[in-house]
Amino acid sequence: MSRHAPPRLTTKFILTMGVKEYRETIPAWVTADDVVLELGCEWGTTSALLAPRCRELVATDISPECIERARREHPGIRFETLDAFDVRAALDLGLPFTKVYMDLSGISGYHSLLDAAALLVSYATVLRPQAIVIKSASLKRFASHCIPWRAAGA
Ligand SMILES: C[S@@+](CC[C@H](N)C(=O)[O-])C[C@H]1O[C@@H](n2cnc3c(N)ncnc32)[C@H](O)[C@@H]1O
Repeated sequence: MSRHAPPRLTTKFILTMGVKEYRETIPAWVTADDVVLELGCEWGTTSALLAPRCRELVATDISPECIERARREHPGIRFETLDAFDVRAALDLGLPFTKVYMDLSGISGYHSLLDAAALLVSYATVLRPQAIVIKSASLKRFASHCIPWRAAGA
């Protein structure tokens, strides 16, 4: 049996289904002290809701076209091109991110369940934010069927 303890994750994972739920979390989870990383910002619609509620926001997307339009429409917000699977590039942004918002096309479907879980664990391990909010129907559905077992008296 291995004697190595697994990394102790302190990050909370907030699982949402659909953009309405995703955006509804902002007043509940984002505070004026937060430094927020947004992954999959598209044209910056959610970014515009996040920006006034936090200390600093970096909104990112894999698509340079989306980032170009987001910069045009929201000149006061910092937008960067970034592939969310390149966690090293996110780390290289060099900011102490306290919250991460994640909404990537393709990650919500049933067959992306493992990708979504892997992304959550990668960001929790590397950036150690207080919370990650993800829009993933499959992950939320899966989590609703999970019951952490506790033995009597434990
Ligand atoms: C549904 S849209 C995001 C909408 C946005 N969050 C909002 O609330 O308006 C999904 C976005 O994920 C981006 N995306 C897909 N794969 C990505 C990846 N690997 N890294 C970063 N962004 C990605 C797409 O370019 C697209 O803009």
